[in-house]
Amino acid sequence: MQTPLLETERLILRPLALSDAPAIQRHFDNWNIIRHLAAVVPWPYPADGAETFVRLQLDKITAGEELHHWVLVLKGGDGEAIGNIHFRPRAEGAKGNRGFWLAEPYWGRGLMTEAIIAVNDFAFLTLCLEHFYVSNAATNEASRRVKQKTGAEFVGFIELPHHGGQSTAERWIVQREAWLRGRGAQSQA
Ligand SMILES: CC(C)(COP(=O)(O)OP(=O)(O)OC[C@H]1O[C@@H](n2cnc3c(N)ncnc32)[C@H](O)[C@@H]1OP(=O)(O)O)[C@@H](O)C(=O)NCCC(=O)NCCS
Repeated sequence: MQTPLLETERLILRPLALSDAPAIQRHFDNWNIIRHLAAVVPWPYPADGAETFVRLQLDKITAGEELHHWVLVLKGGDGEAIGNIHFRPRAEGAKGNRGFWLAEPYWGRGLMTEAIIAVNDFAFLTLCLEHFYVSNAATNEASRRVKQKTGAEFVGFIELPHHGGQSTAERWIVQREAWLRGRGAQSQA
């Protein structure tokens, strides 16, 4: 299934495009972001890091891999990508099915929580998944908090090397039934 455009109160989540590479390069080349990520991300970040990554992602999608990759864009802004979410519904392995980051100037406003609610709705209402897994470095308080606010249930600790030297990660499950129950409770409140 093609990646749809998703909309929240303050954000547009639109499918990744090659034209997003310069904004991704500008925002992502930041140790405060990369130190929280799995050690597979190159650091120091190469000058063509974003373009190489975007091309790779688009090639995978063209080749038919089940991969949804959105950039986050502020409504009423200049259309620039200020963050990324990727979702691989059938991926196996420690890293789980989803990854996200937001440009540092936009942290702490609830934006990623808002975006993840839309992606969870897509996963459970459109793709009709039963569950998926996510993870974060055990020291990553902000990522943990986003998960706690968006229906994730803690599964346990796993080994996953991260840039910041941290090798213990938290693994979480997000389940359809619990998500829909939570959404129902919200709409009745
Ligand atoms: C993780 C990230 C996407 C969060 O984005 P965001 O839009 O700032 O997230 P939100 O504002 O929706 O929620 C963040 C929550 O974490 C809390 N938080 C942030 N830093 C924290 C800290 N150091 N200790 C405790 N809580 C913290 C915030 O208070 C907020 O919780 P609250 O709503 O209960 O107050 C952003 O910090 C980021 O890009 N970090 C670097 C990359 C990264 O870690 N990606 C995830 C890898 S698993």
